[in-house]
Amino acid sequence: MPANKKLLFLPGDGIGPEVMRQVRRVIDWMDRKRKVTFDVTEGLVGGAAIDAHGTPLTDATLADALAADAVMLGAVGGPKWDNPSDYMKRPEAGLLRLRKELGLFANLRPATVFDALVDASTLKPEIIKGLDIMIVRELTGGVYFGEPRGIEDLPNGERRGVNTQVYTTSEIRRVASVAFELARKRSNKVHSMEKANVMESGLLWRQEVTKLHQEQYSDVTLEHMYADNGAMQLLKNPKQFDVIVTDNLFGDILSDEAAMMTGSLGMLPSASLGAADANGNRKALYEPVHGSAPDIAGKDLANPCATLLSFAMALRYSFNLDDDAKTLEKAVQNVLAGGMRTADIMAPGMARCSTTVMGDSILRELDKLSS
Ligand code: IPM
Ligand code: MG
Repeated sequence: MPANKKLLFLPGDGIGPEVMRQVRRVIDWMDRKRKVTFDVTEGLVGGAAIDAHGTPLTDATLADALAADAVMLGAVGGPKWDNPSDYMKRPEAGLLRLRKELGLFANLRPATVFDALVDASTLKPEIIKGLDIMIVRELTGGVYFGEPRGIEDLPNGERRGVNTQVYTTSEIRRVASVAFELARKRSNKVHSMEKANVMESGLLWRQEVTKLHQEQYSDVTLEHMYADNGAMQLLKNPKQFDVIVTDNLFGDILSDEAAMMTGSLGMLPSASLGAADANGNRKALYEPVHGSAPDIAGKDLANPCATLLSFAMALRYSFNLDDDAKTLEKAVQNVLAGGMRTADIMAPGMARCSTTVMGDSILRELDKLSS
């Protein structure tokens, strides 16, 4: 098979490079065993790019990202770059620029609880066993990008910090339609979350989601919820949810909450997708929900599962390799069921392992599943 699947690797900072190394191994495995070949190039993002080029994302790397079929990103950020004189020189700004320039407005964050990890959650097993939620977070609008923004000096000697929450009709409709489409392939239920009780942008969100639902998706069950109530309901009875659609900031917060219910941030993958072009292809970036975890970076302790599961999402959404995606997901599940645990999900009676050994085990399981 020709190597026409263009994949850009951006390992980034902290544990990013070591978890991404495990994806490389799976890619090599697919090449060898499945004759599925990717054309992989690698670039710098975040603090690594700041150190090399003085900016968290160079124009050249952005051009590579635009030319790729998919981008795999590890993590960005760390204390070394925490004190910038210029806010746009933070590692995170590189990631935000990628999301914006690639038009990745729909961020899919599945929160699933694997049976083997039920006891890793801080919630009671009966509350989370079998949990399978998809959070669809708007990713290129809202307060993350709204203008005006900044910090200004006031004549009275005080300072004022400003950010703007702003959404337009089309921004709301396109992300809501991703949520409705996903719901149709799942349990056919969407909860839309905002703060329509205090924010005009939230009220518009509710009105536009309602309208789109009536026009095109009345077969899907739709419920609206204030985001604070949503945060509470997620802890109280998470299994009432199937797909949740919400704005950029609420989605950031609610997805961390949902992720932790599954036991560890080290388990949760994500896909960020743009609009489909004439051929049905979308710009896409895949990354674990967890951050760069500088405290354990370089120690071979990090959990590579979230990143491997993000690669499974890439196989599914960017490369139409659904069977391979399922095999990889199954391999991760089986290894966990067999008792292998990185430190973040360690439990009594289980076998504690390193990043590399987790990768070894998953590769062995892939061998078994495909033989
Ligand atoms: C996330 C992260 C990012 C965000 C940071 C690193 C900019 O928290 O992807 O959830 O706030 O979107
Ligand atoms: Mg976050």
